[in-house]
Amino acid sequence: MSIKKISKDQPEKFEFNSDNLELSKIIINKYPKGKQQSAVMPLLYLVQKQNNNWIPLVGMKYIAKMLDIPYIKVYEVATFYTMYNLSPVGKYFIQVCTTTPCMIRGAYKIVEACKQKISENENVLSNNKTCSWMEVECLGACVNAPVVQINEDYFEDLNKEKAEKIIDKILNNEKPIPGSYKGRNNSEPENKRKSLIEEKNA
Ligand code: FES
Repeated sequence: MSIKKISKDQPEKFEFNSDNLELSKIIINKYPKGKQQSAVMPLLYLVQKQNNNWIPLVGMKYIAKMLDIPYIKVYEVATFYTMYNLSPVGKYFIQVCTTTPCMIRGAYKIVEACKQKISENENVLSNNKTCSWMEVECLGACVNAPVVQINEDYFEDLNKEKAEKIIDKILNNEKPIPGSYKGRNNSEPENKRKSLIEEKNA
């Protein structure tokens, strides 16, 4: 689930900054001539990234113009896929996985931390307007449960205290380090490898 409600407050203008303009040309050139409209999804994602994690209507119009396709085509895509947010979610958008593996490893303690530190309810901006949170389904990193995603980074093997420290950092506009908070390398076993030990590179 994402924020599919179109925001009432819309900016009047959107255009890519010079880096993203450059990147958008590279993305468009990946598609065969005449098929540039296929770039709509990565370009919408780029708009979202530049615009503090949400896509305004002017951003959709901008993409439509860039790809020379009707605005409604871009609108259809943006309103269909859950990864696009259509209302402000803050510069730091925290997605807390509460599907079963994360739930039994303490995901609701992390939800508690979000409620205490960010906002009582999901999808409500923090007091300093930089951050919001929401519950989501499996983020695909169950082996490192419980997991949260902040913008494009995963924070894994969390507990309430560790989640609180991460939230404190982002509320102070600092960048927390992503990855396992148990010091694991990716999803390796916690207490040394117990299988395939005779395999050197397993
Ligand atoms: S259940 Fe949380 S990442 Fe899969």
